[in-house]
Amino acid sequence: MKRLAIVLLSAALLPALSISATAQTSIGLKNLPGAHELLIGSELNGTYLKNLPPGSKYASTAIREFNITGCENELKMYSFTGWKGDPLTGTPIIDNSGADAVANLARANHMVMRGHVLVYNKAIPRWISPDGVHTTFTNAQIKAMVKKYIFTRMQRYSDVVKYWDVTNECFDGKGNLIHDFWYEHLGRDHYMANIFRWAHEADPGAELYYNDYGTESPGPKFNGMLAYLAALKNKNVPIDGIGFQCHENTRWAQSILNTANTDAVDAAGFKWQVTELDCGTDGTKPDWKLQADIYSKIANICLADPNCQALFMWGFTDKHSWLFPANGLPFDVNYKPKACYWALYKAFQNPPARISPSGGSN
Ligand code: XIL
Repeated sequence: MKRLAIVLLSAALLPALSISATAQTSIGLKNLPGAHELLIGSELNGTYLKNLPPGSKYASTAIREFNITGCENELKMYSFTGWKGDPLTGTPIIDNSGADAVANLARANHMVMRGHVLVYNKAIPRWISPDGVHTTFTNAQIKAMVKKYIFTRMQRYSDVVKYWDVTNECFDGKGNLIHDFWYEHLGRDHYMANIFRWAHEADPGAELYYNDYGTESPGPKFNGMLAYLAALKNKNVPIDGIGFQCHENTRWAQSILNTANTDAVDAAGFKWQVTELDCGTDGTKPDWKLQADIYSKIANICLADPNCQALFMWGFTDKHSWLFPANGLPFDVNYKPKACYWALYKAFQNPPARISPSGGSN
């Protein structure tokens, strides 16, 4: 009797067990139907990667999962370490080692890259300005050096970097242009146009992005940013797309990526990408379910819109994350997929139809 009960019980449990066993086997996000239409990937920390032995879990997981990658910090001006010769005519000194490690991994594994970022007010080389305000260089010299830097960086990676964040975080919470170091020294009201034009000249094949945080849900920052970028586009400044960083948290689940914003970007004629997705869950009791729901919602918005080119995360394992506590990424510290990984997996396995802004499917 006892034995029969066990047999019956295991028969009843079997289907459930086998379904969850199948669901726990991953062929890699990049091999799922959703990834035919939408690039899926994450940045890699090039400084960490360049010192790893071949075949590391860090590299092999990224290769298995992603068809697009990039650098966390190594394509910022942190690696623009000096200048050789006269500021107007000389050449930039750049440490390419971290960015090369990521680019070589991408080249060897049929991945493309998004370059982050050419000009950013939180990455000002100290030898140009030790405090981000003062400098001994003239505006003409700074312009010449930054232009040459942009050409050198973009041309080194033009075979693999398909998208570049040209500028990043240039608007304040009210949607006004921040009068930062680069604004002051690269042309004030013309500085954004100048940088995008230089970038287009340097690599005409790359798609050029403006990237920011706090713009993924409705509000004055988004309105100001979009109005400014649309006005530039109308003057033929080569801006192709807008990046929504999407550093989310279960605490602000109500203000994550919103289709009101992505629709407005579509209507203004821009492409868009999610560029830095992560989702922290703070407090004593992390809310893994809500975190997975947020990943799922964002993935489905990207998958449904033909103007969305990539879903890109700011890291993929909690072992290497800028978040604190570091619990906002799809893999845990042991590279084990979390609920939010399976939420992405499900969305990419059964993607919604891609509906163009005019209403037709693409
Ligand atoms: C962060 C990096 O992840 C950190 O390692 C670094 O110390 C600071 O910058 N928005 C951006 C990224 O555009 O460049 C930032 O990256 C995260 C916020």
